[in-house]
Amino acid sequence: MLSLVVLISGGGSNLRALLEASQDAEFPARVIAVGADRDAEGFEHAEEFGIPTFSVALSAFADRDAWGDALLEQVRLWNADLVVLSGFMKLLPPRVVAALSPQLINTHPAYLPEFPGAHGVRDALAAGVSETGASVIIVDNGVDSGPIISQQRVPVLPGDTEHDLHDRIKIVERELLLQAVLDIANGHVDLKELA
Ligand code: GAR
Repeated sequence: MLSLVVLISGGGSNLRALLEASQDAEFPARVIAVGADRDAEGFEHAEEFGIPTFSVALSAFADRDAWGDALLEQVRLWNADLVVLSGFMKLLPPRVVAALSPQLINTHPAYLPEFPGAHGVRDALAAGVSETGASVIIVDNGVDSGPIISQQRVPVLPGDTEHDLHDRIKIVERELLLQAVLDIANGHVDLKELA
């Protein structure tokens, strides 16, 4: 059974998909803790499923490295097999990435390397592309630049708002994330080999 710590910043819909999948005896992974860089709205999903949460706010520390060290300490308490960034909107300091990667994956609402960064959906709309996508990657020290585990295209429809498009991307993103976790748990994806 693959144990997961999931880090979020927002609503946690991808986290919820993992929590629901964890209820299935056949699914080979379990969320054991949920962390955030704030008092995230998505903690309510963890609480509903009886999963412990922790929050480490950047503003409480003198610098990013001190924050990263405190976050890493919390993550390590759980001794998880895999850490999933799921809408975690802060860049991790290099020493945190070095400590966790390649057992550190991230979801992104674009077909990387297209539209990296915090506004992947908005940037795709602004560029006027007819399709964008969703990706699951291994985290490295760049911005959404790590090795790609899986990705899928999502069409941009006429009249799409950022919200509409992001909602459709998230449906694909959830499937990709669940499949990636399943593949990692079953040994069909070897993160060390991909990294
Ligand atoms: C997801 O679409 C995730 O890919 C994105 O934030 C959303 C979080 O949704 N992450 C990034 O843009 C990171 N660059 P959720 O909180 O409902 O799971």
